[in-house]
Amino acid sequence: MMSPRLQIAPNGPEFSRIVLGLWRLSSWQMNPTQRVAFLQAALALGITTIDQADIYGDYTSELLLGEAFAEMPSLRTQFQIVTKCGIQFPAALRPAQTSHIYNTTREHIIASAENSLRSMQIDAIDLMLIHRPDPLMEADEIAAAFTHLQERGIVKYFGVSNFSHAQFELLHSRYPLVSNQVECSLMQMAPIYDGCFDLCQRLRIAPMIWSALAGGSIFSDSGTDAQRIRVALDTIAERLEVSVSCVALAWLLNLPSRPLVLTGSSRVAVLKEAVQAAHLQLSREHWFDLWRAAQGADIP
Ligand SMILES: NC(=O)c1ccc[n+]([C@@H]2O[C@H](COP(=O)([O-])OP(=O)(O)OC[C@H]3O[C@@H](n4cnc5c(N)ncnc54)[C@H](OP(=O)(O)O)[C@@H]3O)[C@@H](O)[C@H]2O)c1
Repeated sequence: MMSPRLQIAPNGPEFSRIVLGLWRLSSWQMNPTQRVAFLQAALALGITTIDQADIYGDYTSELLLGEAFAEMPSLRTQFQIVTKCGIQFPAALRPAQTSHIYNTTREHIIASAENSLRSMQIDAIDLMLIHRPDPLMEADEIAAAFTHLQERGIVKYFGVSNFSHAQFELLHSRYPLVSNQVECSLMQMAPIYDGCFDLCQRLRIAPMIWSALAGGSIFSDSGTDAQRIRVALDTIAERLEVSVSCVALAWLLNLPSRPLVLTGSSRVAVLKEAVQAAHLQLSREHWFDLWRAAQGADIP
């Protein structure tokens, strides 16, 4: 079974619906050969899109991916690369950065894109996101930086992450954005209700979802909410003869804004379950059973 693909916005790029999240890459202790094998396993499942950020692993995650690409150069052209910029903190690899700030200045965005290219040893970034909304962001300045990078062929498309619908609309009015990457899961439903996914559906833009399994809390949290969710997931997973994570991810993939879902696991078995989820149509009854379990209450 292969991940379906989706054009994520009008005139936007085509990505795999399941995206390989590499936030935790540096903690996986993989050597370059193991990293290559992991990337090949993802490709074999049709997972051709990678999610990165300059800051992941204290600025090491992009370097680790770059090492894998250097080990097997043919991998570079088989993946679409998403990365992020706009957060800065002191780190061994960034000795000039002395404080923890958001930085969406033109200089920082351009320098960040150039750094990410060098770190990942690639020629172009497919999609670059502003990582978090910056209270000091000036939409015209960001749009100018995007235009500059796009004209140089360094970055093909731009988007944002963790933006409210109003913040998205502001920047989108200056430069055509192709996605908003936000947290959503059975334990975090905010974007379903705060207008974020409604705006995506209106603009025919696919959101990207991070921590779709609540960072693993869906399986491990001891609170009553998580316990209720697990009981509902178990019941439906057993009925449909699929895994619990497959059902939890299908619940998101069935949303009408057609989100892309990011994985966060180092295990190929979990990637397989995510791909299976992208093919699983949940009935409305099952979808609302999970909603009820997550809310701890019936629909009004
Ligand atoms: N834009 C943003 O602000 C933002 C923020 C955070 C993350 N992200 C992106 O989103 C990606 C995914 O986020 P995430 O890592 O939080 O995703 P997640 O899928 O919610 O959580 C992954 C964690 O859950 C565990 N897990 C997965 N399946 C499991 C299972 N069946 N049983 C037990 N544990 C399981 C994994 O452990 P194992 O490795 O052992 O499977 C891993 O530690 C990141 O890699 C990053 O690319 C973006």
